[in-house]
Amino acid sequence: MIRVEGLGKRYRIGGEPTLRALLRSPRAALQHETIWALRDVSFIVQPGEIVGVIGRNGAGKSTLLRLLGRITAPTEGRAVLHGRAAALLEVGTGFHPDLTGRENVYLNGAILGMSRREIERKFEAIVAFAGVARFIDTPVKRYSSGMQVRLAFAVAAHLEPEILLIDEVLAVGDAAFQQKSLGRMGEAARAGRTILFVSHDMSAIAQLCSRAILLEGGHLAADGPADSVIGAYLGQTESVHIDEGVVAAQPQDAPIRIEAVAITPEAVGTGDPLTVRIHYRAAEPLAAPGFVVTLHDTLGVEVVRLSTLPISGFHIERIEGAGHIDLHIDSLPLTGGLYTLSLAVTRPRVDTLVALDRVATLRIAARDLYGSGVLLTRSRGVVPVAHRWSLHPSD
Ligand SMILES: Nc1ncnc2c1ncn2[C@@H]1O[C@H](COP(=O)(O)OP(=O)(O)O)[C@@H](O)[C@H]1O
Ligand SMILES: [Mg+2]
Repeated sequence: MIRVEGLGKRYRIGGEPTLRALLRSPRAALQHETIWALRDVSFIVQPGEIVGVIGRNGAGKSTLLRLLGRITAPTEGRAVLHGRAAALLEVGTGFHPDLTGRENVYLNGAILGMSRREIERKFEAIVAFAGVARFIDTPVKRYSSGMQVRLAFAVAAHLEPEILLIDEVLAVGDAAFQQKSLGRMGEAARAGRTILFVSHDMSAIAQLCSRAILLEGGHLAADGPADSVIGAYLGQTESVHIDEGVVAAQPQDAPIRIEAVAITPEAVGTGDPLTVRIHYRAAEPLAAPGFVVTLHDTLGVEVVRLSTLPISGFHIERIEGAGHIDLHIDSLPLTGGLYTLSLAVTRPRVDTLVALDRVATLRIAARDLYGSGVLLTRSRGVVPVAHRWSLHPSD
């Protein structure tokens, strides 16, 4: 469905040369500095494959998707797509800001080669999925970024392109919408569509993709089963990975912000102690704030939920300015595998003040907890249980 051969993209960087640089060495100053955002990348994607694309910031993930989506042309090599592609590359891609939601749905459908009748048939489902019914006749430029992403995803997912290219845009949506979108992508793949999906959320990649591609400094560093490529990315020692992008994406005007999250130790296994430290800064005095930490497994099931109030009965009178709160877990009761950690700050009877969904990925090392030589991975259930067997024959 997709064939990528020796694909490379070189960008010019740096602005105009300074006068001083020109006087000192005119030739060097006029030569633009360039960087290879992507180089020597080759792979083939079969119909119906969902491929996760992972790598650190600046690794070349978005460049790869832009080249596949024909947003930009390669410097060398080529990418051949055997099907209609829909690309969801950044917030607002494919939308005309002055047109209404309704008009944009029709415009996008037409671009994807659908007839008016076909779009009409799917229109209700698209609007319902995106949850923007009240605003469907409002120009898209008035939409929040979350609404734009929800509508763009709904259009791309319902208009049935043969190839879906999805960059990290879904991170803008809330946890419920992300989960719904993952489900929709799974359905699309089962219906034979091909998907390339960039995400920092390793549990989403593990949940959805059988295969993953790891980019490092523009090069293809690994291509294979999702679990082993994720393992290669997170490294053998670094089993706790904080997604700084999620921390950075908090609204600036919130009454409280999470300035940093630290999880220790960096390598954690079943039954180990764990500390989650949340550094906060409250712009105004906050009475009775609540802190919530949850863990999800790769199927999206919330397996642990801990909160100061009401769950632990740990009452915080008030906080003001900066500080940190620690959550100590004596013994992590989860079998080996990938889990994601989310956290939130709430106020009683008000709502969530700030939520960092999937801010960290934990790769919990499997342990031989039962002393049988069997490592307890997720396939042995989620919860290890201290237990004994005894046999009592009656004859
Ligand atoms: N339009 C551009 N001009 C110059 N450099 C760019 C441009 N787009 C991306 N880059 C550079 O190319 C590299 C790869 O970027 P990108 O594909 O956005 O990475 P990722 O999506 O993995 O974070 C980075 O070093 C980035 O700074
Ligand atoms: Mg990117």
